[in-house]
Amino acid sequence: MTGAGGLAFDELHGGYADTTVVRGVSGTVGPGQVLGVLGRNGVGKSTLLKMLGGVVVPSAGRVLWDGADVTRMALQRRLGRGISYTPQDDIVFGELSVADNLYLHLENRNPARYAGLQQAFPLLAQRQAQRAGTLSGGERKLVSFARALALEAPLTLLDEPTEGVQPENVERMGRLVRERCTRAASFVIVEQHLEWVMSIADTLLVLDHGEVVLRGAAAELSRADVERHLVV
Ligand SMILES: Nc1ncnc2c1ncn2[C@@H]1O[C@H](COP(=O)(O)OP(=O)(O)OP(=O)(O)O)[C@@H](O)[C@H]1O
Ligand SMILES: [Mg+2]
Repeated sequence: MTGAGGLAFDELHGGYADTTVVRGVSGTVGPGQVLGVLGRNGVGKSTLLKMLGGVVVPSAGRVLWDGADVTRMALQRRLGRGISYTPQDDIVFGELSVADNLYLHLENRNPARYAGLQQAFPLLAQRQAQRAGTLSGGERKLVSFARALALEAPLTLLDEPTEGVQPENVERMGRLVRERCTRAASFVIVEQHLEWVMSIADTLLVLDHGEVVLRGAAAELSRADVERHLVV
């Protein structure tokens, strides 16, 4: 495992206090690739993503990004290295406007960053002045998705980006992700929306009880194979 020119994580273990949630998970994501992470509720998907993003420090294992060991590097420093992480919940500042939320991580309010995103999601332009706390759950997810894509990070980590989002916007999100991949951006996407993630991912990891129970090229795995691990 070198990790050069991409992300590699090796035998990651960890969780919260004395609870181990992720148990020996490994994977790679090359430039321009999407890794989809699936699994039932509570199996450790978000915890894995937090380890990749620098929110949870693994108790064992390594995370390599572009050839450098970032295992213990905190979120902010990872962002400086081109890794953007979007959590599953608490994704907008409710008291701030939509516009303030969108420009939160950008040093200047260069509207060009949002030109394509506003074209795909007119709501982002129409609701700029609205308090983000008054948006629906799916609309908040769109704001956080757009904010992540506006960063144009080489590696974007998204935790259930389509939750509650309207089908037509879910489809557009997929197209935007694939369009970024043509420019060598990489993604790790935790998802419940099986069909969507199978249609945009290059490779899939399915977790159960913190371990990988299925992995492979998205094009080679059947929906039935994956679903077997998702039913309770
Ligand atoms: N901050 C925390 N402190 C303690 N335990 C936590 C914390 N966050 C998550 N857990 C526990 O870790 C386990 C895995 O949680 P995680 O959020 O990684 O699962 P998930 O696969 O993302 O689930 P979901 O599909 O519901 O989002 C769960 O048992 C959860 O209760
Ligand atoms: Mg989760």
